[in-house]
Amino acid sequence: MIKRKVILIITAFLLITACNSENKNSKEIIASQDVNTLKGNVESGKVTYLQYCASCHGKLGQGSIGPNFTDAYWLHGSTREDLIKVITNGVPAKGMISWKEQLKSKEILNVASYILSLEGSQPSNAIAAQGKHKITGEEAVVSDQKDVVMDTSIKNIPLGGNKQSGAMLFNAVLGCAHCHGANAKGHKDNRNIRNMTLRYGNKASNVFDLVIQEGRNGTAMPPWNHLTDTQKKDVKTFIFSIQTKNK
Ligand code: HEC
Ligand code: HEC
Repeated sequence: MIKRKVILIITAFLLITACNSENKNSKEIIASQDVNTLKGNVESGKVTYLQYCASCHGKLGQGSIGPNFTDAYWLHGSTREDLIKVITNGVPAKGMISWKEQLKSKEILNVASYILSLEGSQPSNAIAAQGKHKITGEEAVVSDQKDVVMDTSIKNIPLGGNKQSGAMLFNAVLGCAHCHGANAKGHKDNRNIRNMTLRYGNKASNVFDLVIQEGRNGTAMPPWNHLTDTQKKDVKTFIFSIQTKNK
């Protein structure tokens, strides 16, 4: 009698736990299917993207402080589910914050869908790929861009020029602002030269001297080697004094 009772109880217990785990599994499966089949609204994802993400990933997804979204390489996986995970939880140690407080899960789905729609769009100013190729799994080739070190100490390099006179030369006398915008805050990425540290790290000083001497071949940037040494020094001092981490 007792033996039979025990067997009954054990059987009931096993049945209950079996049902429970089956339930949980199917729920999990539905959830992961949801994110990969539900496409999300790309258009409203774009609105969220421009508001919250473009400052680090670029207006066109070309990358800046954060990685480029227009290539086939990913640091944290390429499925919609992978993106949702990284957007939700962030990668705080690397400067990507968690968005779960600011955005609803629907908004996260939409913005992930928008990001996925950018692949192959080839913006002209895209930064180098990072991570692994989503199909071949190959590591992106390491380029200079990846080694760029943020160096705000550049502001403190003693250049010995006159900042005010440099600003005057840049904005009015020499017409640099005609292309680079007032105070170098250009509208196009390659003309905004307030973030040379971002593009060149601590090599920015040499880059400046070279580009003034020779211009930038194949672009609208002409050489300025006819300037006097004082003018060059003043303009450089001015530009270096307005470098920011963000554009
Ligand atoms: C303050 C800068 C910053 C902002 C703002 C930002 N990100 Fe990021 N994001 C990063 C950085 C840096 C990384 C790279 C993390 C790493 O190296 O692991 C990253 C990584 C990512 C990745 C993973 C890319 C990959 O290759 O796997 C996704 C997806 C992403 N961000 C989406 C977003 C979305 C969506 C928003 C806006 C809601 C956003 N980010 C806003 C800095 C930012
Ligand atoms: C006719 C347009 C034009 C004028 C005028 C012009 N620039 Fe440029 N400059 C450019 C463009 C375009 C680039 C970006 C080239 C590239 O994409 O590599 C550039 C690049 C630079 C860079 C390199 C920064 C970087 O991040 O690549 C510096 C520094 C610079 N310009 C300073 C100046 C100064 C100083 C003046 C005035 C004395 C000036 N420019 C006038 C068009 C111009």
